[in-house]
Amino acid sequence: MTKPVILTGLRANNNLTIGNYFGALMPMVEMANQKAGEYQINMFIPDLHSFTTPINHDELQGQIMHNARLFAAAGLPLDHDDILLYRQSYVPAHSELTWILDCFTGVGEMGRMIEYKDKSAKIGDDRVSVGLFNYPVLMAADILLYGAKYVPVGEDQRQHLEFARDISERINARFHDILTVPDPLEKQTEFFGKGQGLRIKDLADPTKKMSKSDDSGKGVIFLTDNPSEAAKKVMSATTDDKASINYNPIEQPGISNLLQILALLRGHPLDDVEAAYKGQSSYGDFKRIVADEVAGFLTAFQAKLADVSDNAIIAAFERSEQVANQQANETLHRVQQAVGLRPRG
Ligand code: TRP
Repeated sequence: MTKPVILTGLRANNNLTIGNYFGALMPMVEMANQKAGEYQINMFIPDLHSFTTPINHDELQGQIMHNARLFAAAGLPLDHDDILLYRQSYVPAHSELTWILDCFTGVGEMGRMIEYKDKSAKIGDDRVSVGLFNYPVLMAADILLYGAKYVPVGEDQRQHLEFARDISERINARFHDILTVPDPLEKQTEFFGKGQGLRIKDLADPTKKMSKSDDSGKGVIFLTDNPSEAAKKVMSATTDDKASINYNPIEQPGISNLLQILALLRGHPLDDVEAAYKGQSSYGDFKRIVADEVAGFLTAFQAKLADVSDNAIIAAFERSEQVANQQANETLHRVQQAVGLRPRG
């Protein structure tokens, strides 16, 4: 690990939305392209995280491949030495370090995790798995094994990143500095710049974020949606009765969301896009423009997706997993020595 490490994981379950594309996938891929050379970029598929809540296990393999294809279609280079694309479960050190860290983690600490509280409240106690409960520990292991300094995560993962810092500091205090502590959140934001964590809203209910786990799917555009179906979803997006286009997320969340989507699709600053349509009264005409843009984007993206070679992905996995195992095992060994599981050389 000679270069500083930037690391992030993108979950394999569920289909990704254009919100995930513009909020996570695209910024990650752009960042990887810009920073490779100077940094090592770990992009991994957290397959062990995929069934903390119940899934259809027959679909997991397909989803892992699909996720990797999405990265590639979004422009992630598959053959750059500094860019690692790997499957978490192919690096067994993740599971092993998790167990060790589990034993230094408080039950109360995990119980306070907001994502855990939200999810467990939804599914009911008897279906809450221990995996869901200690999932932040696995996430900490994901980060600490590679000594990652920079971990771009959305708002909902910040508390987990804070935990990764806490547990690494705790281990370091107890056993001499053996782990690299990820940078504090303010520094991360500085490093990645604004734009990170940008949220596209649900088309049907623009007060909430567009989420892949929303079952109705009416207000959600998936990257695999049929382009004309997706255009229809835009045409029936919820707006308001002001009959004047403005960017004002509080008063006009629907129209503001459409302006935001258009800006992202065109790669233009939001201000410019707003200026072009400001004050216009026909929401129908404006929706048509956004709908066409969405359909065009999906058509182009899906063509790229169809062109991705599975062989190239498997080759990237295998190359990356070899490097990842080597680096992760070094860290694991240091921790094993510290806790007395291995002789101290
Ligand atoms: N928990 C993250 C999510 O739900 C995914 C993830 C797993 C991750 N391990 C990670 C992100 C390590 C950053 C670093 O989106």
